[in-house]
Amino acid sequence: MKMQISAIVGARPNFVKMAPILEEARRRSEFECRLVHTGQHYSPEMSKTFFDELGMPAPDVNLEIGSGSHTAQTAGVMLRLEAEWSERRPDLALVVGDVNSTVAAALVASKLGIRVAHVEAGLRSFDRRMPEETNRLVTDVLSDLLFASEPSGVANLRAEGIPKEKIFLVGNVMIDTLHKFRDKAAKTVVLDRLGLTSKRYAVATLHRPSNVDGAGQLVSLVNMLAELARHLPVVFPVHPRTRERMERAGLLKPGLILTEPLGYLEFLRLTGEARLVLTDSGGIQEETTILQVPCLTLRENTERPITIEQGTNRLVGTDPQKILQAALDTLDAPPPSLPPPQFWDGQASARILDVLERSLPNAQS
Ligand code: UD1
Repeated sequence: MKMQISAIVGARPNFVKMAPILEEARRRSEFECRLVHTGQHYSPEMSKTFFDELGMPAPDVNLEIGSGSHTAQTAGVMLRLEAEWSERRPDLALVVGDVNSTVAAALVASKLGIRVAHVEAGLRSFDRRMPEETNRLVTDVLSDLLFASEPSGVANLRAEGIPKEKIFLVGNVMIDTLHKFRDKAAKTVVLDRLGLTSKRYAVATLHRPSNVDGAGQLVSLVNMLAELARHLPVVFPVHPRTRERMERAGLLKPGLILTEPLGYLEFLRLTGEARLVLTDSGGIQEETTILQVPCLTLRENTERPITIEQGTNRLVGTDPQKILQAALDTLDAPPPSLPPPQFWDGQASARILDVLERSLPNAQS
């Protein structure tokens, strides 16, 4: 009997995390995967482009949940997923990351008595004001198999009383995808299209509610980026949440290179050849660690401490003057050269599937 896996994706970073796991599962005859898209991200540039570029199979089902408050998104996914799983009950619910779709799926699986595997378990910012932190805590407490991307994840889960038998340090699936697509990304023409020269520009992304939802903070961060743009070109692919706020604040012509959200391949090339990245994203802190591009994280904390200990990441907070100074200092420093963190080697998905194989009822342990 094959293990029936229901793999849940909803938002942009999760497509990048799930793609290599699905590919590895397809290579192994013991597994059958059904891909469920919650529809949390629905516009072509936030969803379909990623499926196409990453060679992911089209979702078997789309719950079409769309935008809404956190409660509306979470509850909407829960109701529709309960219907889906009542009709086709999987052996395992596979969830990744920390978005609303992740926690919604873990809750439904738990209530239906379906085992849950969480990829990227144990990451903690220790900041309960972040919606993702609630999602991480709840998902982990409900999970039966917890796959950690870095040692801090293991330590956090142990400190929360999760038994060690459930926890596996497997490495970073997002980096599996990066390794697979780096050569293909190098062939994209994004630098020419935007008139950029390798290592002579910065990339900025902003979408965290703490940075973009208050008009005052968003205006001062965008002004800071415009100031930095006097020293080198700054490309700013604008997340829909941020664009809406910028339009409301009348901020669309600040002297930066503004683009729509880019596809995975173009964005990988753009960050890989940047002199500097400024971001409040989680995944970009990890990708720049492997790309060896200096990353300034515009937050007071990170749930990914290994990117600071062993990577190129620096937490610079949200004060525009301090961020600008840190950016200018970075431009004067030599580019970093560091070995990658353990298991950020392109094989994390294979390790996950090895663990799942061992958990099959007839497996020899
Ligand atoms: C979500 C995740 C966040 C992740 C981010 C990556 C949660 C709590 N947050 O935040 O962890 O880092 O995705 O992008 O799950 N919108 C579109 N098109 C889309 C999707 C969204 O225009 O395809 C707009 C909608 O107006 C929506 C807003 O973007 O209100 C925010 O989308 P939402 O999914 O609620 O959260 P994100 O900010 O994207």
